[in-house]
Amino acid sequence: MLTRQNLQSFYRMEKRQDIMTRLEVCAWEKHQILPSSQFFRAFSPSNIALIKYWGKRDVALNLPTHGSISVTLKDFGSYTTAEFSEHFTKDEFYLNGTTLIDFSKAIKTVDELRKLAQTSLRVRVQSYNNFPTAAGLASSASGMSALTYACARALDLNLSLEKLSEISRKTSGSSCRSFFDGFVEWNKGELADGSDCVAHSIVEGKHFPLQVFLVVVQEKPKHHPSTDGMLHTQKTSPFFEAWVKNSEKDFIRMKKALFEKDFESFSMIIQENCFRMHACMMASSPPLLYWEPQTLLVTGLIESLQKSSIPVCFTIDAGPNVVVLCPPEVRRTVHEELKKLNPMQLLSTILGSGTRAYNLQEWQNE
Ligand code: PMV
Repeated sequence: MLTRQNLQSFYRMEKRQDIMTRLEVCAWEKHQILPSSQFFRAFSPSNIALIKYWGKRDVALNLPTHGSISVTLKDFGSYTTAEFSEHFTKDEFYLNGTTLIDFSKAIKTVDELRKLAQTSLRVRVQSYNNFPTAAGLASSASGMSALTYACARALDLNLSLEKLSEISRKTSGSSCRSFFDGFVEWNKGELADGSDCVAHSIVEGKHFPLQVFLVVVQEKPKHHPSTDGMLHTQKTSPFFEAWVKNSEKDFIRMKKALFEKDFESFSMIIQENCFRMHACMMASSPPLLYWEPQTLLVTGLIESLQKSSIPVCFTIDAGPNVVVLCPPEVRRTVHEELKKLNPMQLLSTILGSGTRAYNLQEWQNE
């Protein structure tokens, strides 16, 4: 049976990266599904922000200060099984086969869905991330969207993707983008209740195909969780207002670049947006710095490839790892160059579709 350790060594071998097949997910489930329970399995992908969400206009509802744009990743995400049964006496959550002690965030979402379904059935949630936890991908985005989708379907709630995305957003902001395909926008909205603060797909990935490399330079968990970092920056950085204003412009510029399939503008916008977010964090008091020395080795390499007219660019989330994007034609060259830096891990994928759920038959047949 596949263990966590040899799963990671598979990744290092950079072979097939969608190695966690549906059968393996079932093998990883600590508890077998009760035949009498109502259950659904969902897969939800991770997403990487091109125009970053970093600032909240409403903390309780996770409403952003400005819109953001992301790409949905094909191969990396969370498989989640939600099972409701009258045989359960308490809610239980498992992540990667281990009991989760603090599930206070996830339970907020489950409670909202239980209320909509008018049920008090307890739930057992078993979730697996098919990427190494320290790969620099926000597991909350794929984890929360998969949980929301699986629970809603298990409870027979017929909710639109937009509604599911809205429910998920309240627990993890960036998760609202994982429901959708390809390039996704999350609008700021104006209303206080957040009903117009919704995400949807701008164009599918095939409109503007990209190869995405995740260059892991450090495997430790990040020192400041994103909500803490975001609120700290918002409260103390003198650059915050300028960051929001420029991000609004970047949001519009990025949509134009996407529609026009203009990689040069695309590269410039995502790098500028990324550096502005980090500059804004660094200007906080005390300063917030997520980078490591190796982060700059990767960005330096990309800049030198750009000088040799290779179409490639990068972005960095709230952590030290770098996400590199390029058109498929140059992926081999870029991969070879990145390998020379000998990063801790080098993962690769393309753009994919959003969250999907399976009942038992769909799961077995796909
Ligand atoms: O939604 P959160 O709390 O995981 O915050 C995500 C923040 C960034 O990843 C840095 C940017 C983004 O838009 O995803």
